[in-house]
Amino acid sequence: MEDFTRLLEAAAAVRRHAYAPYSRFPVGAALQTADGMIFTGCNIENVSFGLTVCAERVACFAAVAAGQKEPVALALVADTPEPPVPCGACRQVLHEFSPAMWIVCAGLNGQKRIFRLSELLPEAFSEF
Ligand code: THU
Repeated sequence: MEDFTRLLEAAAAVRRHAYAPYSRFPVGAALQTADGMIFTGCNIENVSFGLTVCAERVACFAAVAAGQKEPVALALVADTPEPPVPCGACRQVLHEFSPAMWIVCAGLNGQKRIFRLSELLPEAFSEF
C-alpha cells in the first residue's frame, strides 16, 4: 500500500484555508481520483451553525464538479491527539462514489490510521 504522502501534504496545506471561527477546529481533506488528480477541501463554517460544511464534503464536491466521480483515497488532517475520522454524514456522501476508497486519517503530530470507507460505514444506505 502506498503511504499517501502527497495526499497528506495536500490535506495539511488546505487546512490552512479552513474558515472555522466558531469551533476553532480547522480541518483539511484531499481526495485522489482514479485519474490521479487531487482535489482539496477545508471546513467552512457559518454563523447559522447547521450550514457548516466539513472538509471532506468540500473536497468530494470539488472532484464531482470537475467531472471526477471515482475517488480512490481521501486524506484527512486535523490537530487532534488521535487521528481524526470523518463524521457520519461525510462517510455517507463519500460512500455514494466509492465504498472501497481508502480513508487516511492523520493528526498534526504525525499519527496515522488508514481504513477502507466500508469499514467506517458498514450497512450504508445505498438503495431505495
Ligand atoms: N469537521 C470536518 O471538517 N470534518 C469532520 O469529519 C468532522 C468535523 C469540521 C466541522 C466543523 O467546522 C468543525 O470541524 C468542528 O466540528
